[in-house]
Amino acid sequence: MTTKDPINPVPLSVLPQHVAVIMDGNGRWAKGRGQARIQGHRQGVETVRELVATCAEMGIGHLTLFAFSSENWRRPRLEVRLLRQLFLLALDREIARLHGHGVRFRAIGDIAAFGSEIVKRVEAAEALTRGNTRLQLTIAANYGGRWDIARAAQQLALEVEAGRMRADDVTAEALEAHLSLGGIPEPDLFIRTGGEQRISNFLLWQLAYTELYFTPTLWPDFHRGEFEKALHSFAGRQRRFGRTGDQVEAAWRA
Ligand code: IPE
Ligand code: IPE
Ligand code: MG
Repeated sequence: MTTKDPINPVPLSVLPQHVAVIMDGNGRWAKGRGQARIQGHRQGVETVRELVATCAEMGIGHLTLFAFSSENWRRPRLEVRLLRQLFLLALDREIARLHGHGVRFRAIGDIAAFGSEIVKRVEAAEALTRGNTRLQLTIAANYGGRWDIARAAQQLALEVEAGRMRADDVTAEALEAHLSLGGIPEPDLFIRTGGEQRISNFLLWQLAYTELYFTPTLWPDFHRGEFEKALHSFAGRQRRFGRTGDQVEAAWRA
Protein backbone atom coordinates (compact mmCIF):
# COMPACT_ATOMS: atom_id res chain seq x y z
CA MET A 1 0.00 0.00 0.00
CA THR A 2 1.37 3.42 -0.84
CA THR A 3 0.84 6.42 1.39
CA LYS A 4 -1.69 7.77 -1.13
CA ASP A 5 -4.07 4.80 -0.81
CA PRO A 6 -7.03 5.75 1.32
CA ILE A 7 -7.38 3.37 4.23
CA ASN A 8 -10.25 2.70 6.57
CA PRO A 9 -10.61 5.32 9.25
CA VAL A 10 -9.51 4.11 12.66
CA PRO A 11 -12.54 3.74 14.98
CA LEU A 12 -12.47 6.54 17.54
CA SER A 13 -12.96 4.14 20.45
CA VAL A 14 -9.55 2.58 19.87
CA LEU A 15 -7.54 5.71 19.18
CA PRO A 16 -4.57 6.02 21.53
CA GLN A 17 -4.76 8.96 23.94
CA HIS A 18 -1.02 9.41 24.04
CA VAL A 19 1.44 8.58 21.26
CA ALA A 20 5.20 8.66 21.89
CA VAL A 21 7.60 8.62 18.94
CA ILE A 22 11.32 8.06 18.39
CA MET A 23 11.83 9.98 15.18
CA ASP A 24 14.74 8.07 13.69
CA GLY A 25 16.27 7.81 10.24
CA ASN A 26 16.84 11.42 9.26
CA GLY A 27 20.53 10.91 8.60
CA ARG A 28 20.00 7.84 6.42
CA TRP A 29 17.22 9.59 4.51
CA ALA A 30 19.63 12.39 3.59
CA LYS A 31 22.53 10.06 2.87
CA GLY A 32 20.36 8.05 0.49
CA ARG A 33 19.84 11.23 -1.50
CA GLY A 34 23.50 12.22 -1.46
CA GLN A 35 22.69 15.12 0.87
CA ALA A 36 24.16 16.29 4.18
CA ARG A 37 22.58 14.76 7.31
CA ILE A 38 21.15 18.13 8.35
CA GLN A 39 18.89 18.05 5.28
CA GLY A 40 17.29 14.95 6.76
CA HIS A 41 16.74 16.74 10.05
CA ARG A 42 15.21 19.71 8.21
CA GLN A 43 12.86 17.41 6.35
CA GLY A 44 12.10 15.74 9.68
CA VAL A 45 10.71 19.03 11.00
CA GLU A 46 8.17 18.95 8.15
CA THR A 47 7.09 15.47 9.26
CA VAL A 48 6.66 16.78 12.82
CA ARG A 49 4.42 19.59 11.56
CA GLU A 50 2.31 17.12 9.59
CA LEU A 51 1.98 14.64 12.47
CA VAL A 52 1.01 17.36 14.96
CA ALA A 53 -1.76 18.51 12.61
CA THR A 54 -2.97 14.92 12.12
CA CYS A 55 -3.05 14.21 15.88
CA ALA A 56 -4.91 17.46 16.59
CA GLU A 57 -7.42 16.67 13.87
CA MET A 58 -7.99 13.10 15.09
CA GLY A 59 -8.43 14.11 18.71
CA ILE A 60 -5.32 12.41 20.10
CA GLY A 61 -4.62 14.27 23.35
CA HIS A 62 -0.88 13.84 23.81
CA LEU A 63 2.04 13.52 21.43
CA THR A 64 5.56 13.12 22.83
CA LEU A 65 8.48 13.29 20.41
CA PHE A 66 12.10 12.32 21.03
CA ALA A 67 14.14 15.04 19.32
CA PHE A 68 17.56 14.74 20.96
CA SER A 69 18.76 12.17 23.46
CA SER A 70 21.21 12.74 26.29
CA GLU A 71 23.54 10.47 24.29
CA ASN A 72 23.28 12.49 21.05
CA TRP A 73 26.02 14.85 22.33
CA ARG A 74 28.35 12.08 21.17
CA ARG A 75 27.69 13.07 17.57
CA PRO A 76 30.11 15.20 15.55
CA ARG A 77 30.19 18.76 16.89
CA LEU A 78 28.99 20.19 13.62
CA GLU A 79 25.85 18.04 13.61
CA VAL A 80 25.09 18.95 17.24
CA ARG A 81 25.54 22.64 16.44
CA LEU A 82 23.27 22.45 13.40
CA LEU A 83 20.63 20.53 15.36
CA ARG A 84 20.66 23.21 18.03
CA GLN A 85 20.20 25.90 15.36
CA LEU A 86 17.35 23.94 13.83
CA PHE A 87 15.65 23.65 17.22
CA LEU A 88 15.94 27.41 17.66
CA LEU A 89 14.58 28.08 14.19
CA ALA A 90 11.70 25.66 14.66
CA LEU A 91 10.78 27.30 17.97
CA ASP A 92 10.73 30.71 16.29
CA ARG A 93 8.76 29.58 13.27
CA GLU A 94 6.28 27.10 14.67
CA ILE A 95 5.10 28.28 18.07
CA ALA A 96 2.62 30.91 16.88
CA ARG A 97 1.08 28.39 14.51
CA LEU A 98 0.87 25.75 17.24
CA HIS A 99 -0.77 28.24 19.54
CA GLY A 100 -3.25 29.16 16.81
CA HIS A 101 -4.23 25.50 16.58
CA GLY A 102 -4.80 25.12 20.31
CA VAL A 103 -1.66 23.08 20.93
CA ARG A 104 0.02 23.18 24.33
CA PHE A 105 3.80 23.03 23.98
CA ARG A 106 6.16 21.57 26.54
CA ALA A 107 9.78 20.51 26.52
CA ILE A 108 11.22 17.81 28.76
CA GLY A 109 14.90 17.07 29.32
CA ASP A 110 17.86 19.06 30.54
CA ILE A 111 17.23 22.00 28.19
CA ALA A 112 19.70 24.31 29.98
CA ALA A 113 22.56 22.51 28.21
CA PHE A 114 21.40 24.06 24.91
CA GLY A 115 22.06 27.57 26.21
CA SER A 116 19.98 30.52 27.39
CA GLU A 117 18.52 31.45 23.98
CA ILE A 118 16.76 28.10 23.73
CA VAL A 119 15.74 28.12 27.40
CA LYS A 120 14.15 31.57 26.96
CA ARG A 121 12.21 30.54 23.87
CA VAL A 122 11.07 27.26 25.39
CA GLU A 123 9.83 29.05 28.51
CA ALA A 124 8.04 31.67 26.42
CA ALA A 125 6.42 28.97 24.29
CA GLU A 126 5.30 27.03 27.35
CA ALA A 127 3.86 30.15 28.95
CA LEU A 128 2.08 31.25 25.75
CA THR A 129 0.41 27.89 25.16
CA ARG A 130 -0.23 26.88 28.79
CA GLY A 131 -4.00 27.27 28.54
CA ASN A 132 -4.40 25.21 25.34
CA THR A 133 -6.17 21.89 25.64
CA ARG A 134 -6.56 20.45 22.15
CA LEU A 135 -3.26 18.57 21.99
CA GLN A 136 -0.28 18.53 24.30
CA LEU A 137 2.92 18.36 22.27
CA THR A 138 5.94 17.41 24.36
CA ILE A 139 9.39 17.60 22.84
CA ALA A 140 12.04 15.53 24.61
CA ALA A 141 15.39 17.25 24.10
CA ASN A 142 18.58 16.34 25.93
CA TYR A 143 16.30 13.80 27.51
CA GLY A 144 17.16 10.37 28.88
CA GLY A 145 14.84 7.95 30.65
CA ARG A 146 17.50 7.11 33.23
CA TRP A 147 18.15 10.80 33.89
CA ASP A 148 14.42 11.33 34.42
CA ILE A 149 14.08 8.47 36.93
CA ALA A 150 17.26 9.46 38.78
CA ARG A 151 16.03 13.05 39.01
CA ALA A 152 12.67 11.95 40.42
CA ALA A 153 14.46 9.72 42.96
CA GLN A 154 16.63 12.67 43.96
CA GLN A 155 13.58 14.86 44.54
CA LEU A 156 12.01 12.18 46.74
CA ALA A 157 15.28 11.78 48.64
CA LEU A 158 15.28 15.52 49.33
CA GLU A 159 11.73 15.28 50.69
CA VAL A 160 12.78 12.45 53.00
CA GLU A 161 15.91 14.33 54.05
CA ALA A 162 13.79 17.37 54.92
CA GLY A 163 11.48 15.19 56.99
CA ARG A 164 8.45 15.88 54.77
CA MET A 165 8.21 12.23 53.69
CA ARG A 166 9.13 8.88 55.18
CA ALA A 167 11.15 6.27 53.27
CA ASP A 168 8.00 4.10 53.32
CA ASP A 169 6.19 6.74 51.29
CA VAL A 170 8.60 6.26 48.36
CA THR A 171 6.21 4.25 46.21
CA ALA A 172 5.89 3.80 42.45
CA GLU A 173 3.07 6.39 42.47
CA ALA A 174 5.18 8.93 44.37
CA LEU A 175 8.08 8.46 41.99
CA GLU A 176 5.82 8.65 38.94
CA ALA A 177 4.49 12.01 40.10
CA HIS A 178 8.02 13.46 40.02
CA LEU A 179 8.85 12.30 36.49
CA SER A 180 8.90 14.84 33.67
CA LEU A 181 5.59 13.50 32.32
CA GLY A 182 4.08 13.09 35.81
CA GLY A 183 0.32 13.58 35.75
CA ILE A 184 -0.26 12.85 32.07
CA PRO A 185 -1.51 9.44 30.89
CA GLU A 186 1.21 6.96 29.97
CA PRO A 187 1.71 6.47 26.22
CA ASP A 188 -0.67 3.87 24.76
CA LEU A 189 1.29 3.64 21.55
CA PHE A 190 5.03 3.95 20.98
CA ILE A 191 6.33 4.30 17.44
CA ARG A 192 9.93 4.10 16.31
CA THR A 193 10.75 4.83 12.69
CA GLY A 194 14.04 4.06 10.96
CA GLY A 195 14.13 0.28 11.47
CA GLU A 196 15.91 -0.06 14.82
CA GLN A 197 14.00 -2.01 17.45
CA ARG A 198 15.19 -0.43 20.68
CA ILE A 199 14.15 2.21 23.20
CA SER A 200 17.45 4.18 23.20
CA ASN A 201 16.85 5.55 26.73
CA PHE A 202 13.50 7.20 25.87
CA LEU A 203 10.58 6.99 28.36
CA LEU A 204 11.81 3.96 30.32
CA TRP A 205 9.30 4.16 33.16
CA GLN A 206 6.23 5.10 31.17
CA LEU A 207 6.63 2.47 28.44
CA ALA A 208 6.01 -0.41 30.87
CA TYR A 209 2.65 -1.32 29.25
CA THR A 210 2.79 0.67 26.04
CA GLU A 211 2.13 -1.08 22.72
CA LEU A 212 5.32 -0.94 20.66
CA TYR A 213 5.32 -0.37 16.91
CA PHE A 214 8.47 -0.41 14.81
CA THR A 215 8.67 0.52 11.15
CA PRO A 216 11.58 0.61 8.72
CA THR A 217 10.16 3.82 7.21
CA LEU A 218 12.61 6.68 7.74
CA TRP A 219 11.24 9.62 9.74
CA PRO A 220 11.13 12.13 6.83
CA ASP A 221 8.96 9.59 4.92
CA PHE A 222 6.58 8.95 7.83
CA HIS A 223 3.50 10.60 6.33
CA ARG A 224 -0.11 10.29 7.37
CA GLY A 225 -0.70 6.91 5.71
CA GLU A 226 2.23 5.46 7.65
CA PHE A 227 0.83 6.84 10.89
CA GLU A 228 -2.57 5.36 10.08
CA LYS A 229 -0.92 1.96 9.63
CA ALA A 230 0.48 2.28 13.16
CA LEU A 231 -2.97 3.26 14.48
CA HIS A 232 -4.53 0.24 12.77
CA SER A 233 -1.92 -2.04 14.26
CA PHE A 234 -2.67 -0.55 17.68
CA ALA A 235 -6.43 -0.92 17.19
CA GLY A 236 -6.02 -4.64 16.50
CA ARG A 237 -4.17 -5.42 19.73
CA GLN A 238 -5.61 -6.73 22.94
CA ARG A 239 -4.16 -4.94 25.97
CA ARG A 240 -4.22 -7.31 28.91
CA PHE A 241 -2.17 -5.52 31.61
CA GLY A 242 -1.33 -8.87 33.19
CA ARG A 243 -4.84 -10.38 32.94
CA THR A 244 -5.88 -13.29 30.71
CA GLY A 245 -7.51 -12.77 27.32
CA ASP A 246 -10.76 -14.32 28.63
CA GLN A 247 -10.90 -11.85 31.52
CA VAL A 248 -10.41 -8.92 29.17
CA GLU A 249 -13.16 -10.14 26.83
CA ALA A 250 -15.55 -10.69 29.73
CA ALA A 251 -14.91 -7.14 30.93
CA TRP A 252 -15.70 -5.83 27.42
CA ARG A 253 -19.02 -7.72 27.34
CA ALA A 254 -20.02 -6.49 30.82
C1 IPE B 1 17.03 10.95 14.34
O1 IPE B 1 17.63 10.68 13.13
C2 IPE B 1 17.19 12.38 14.78
C3 IPE B 1 18.13 12.57 15.90
C4 IPE B 1 18.67 11.64 16.64
C5 IPE B 1 18.46 13.96 16.21
P1 IPE B 1 19.13 10.21 13.06
O2 IPE B 1 19.99 11.43 12.95
O3 IPE B 1 19.46 9.32 14.18
O4 IPE B 1 19.15 9.42 11.68
P2 IPE B 1 19.95 8.09 11.37
O5 IPE B 1 19.55 7.08 12.41
O6 IPE B 1 21.41 8.42 11.44
O7 IPE B 1 19.51 7.73 10.01
C1 IPE C 1 17.26 8.04 19.31
O1 IPE C 1 17.85 7.95 18.04
C2 IPE C 1 17.15 9.45 19.71
C3 IPE C 1 16.31 10.30 18.88
C4 IPE C 1 15.58 9.97 17.85
C5 IPE C 1 16.29 11.66 19.31
P1 IPE C 1 19.39 7.57 17.84
O2 IPE C 1 19.60 7.46 16.38
O3 IPE C 1 20.24 8.53 18.58
O4 IPE C 1 19.47 6.14 18.56
P2 IPE C 1 20.55 5.00 18.47
O5 IPE C 1 21.88 5.64 18.73
O6 IPE C 1 20.49 4.42 17.10
O7 IPE C 1 20.14 4.02 19.52
MG1 MG D 1 19.43 7.29 14.43
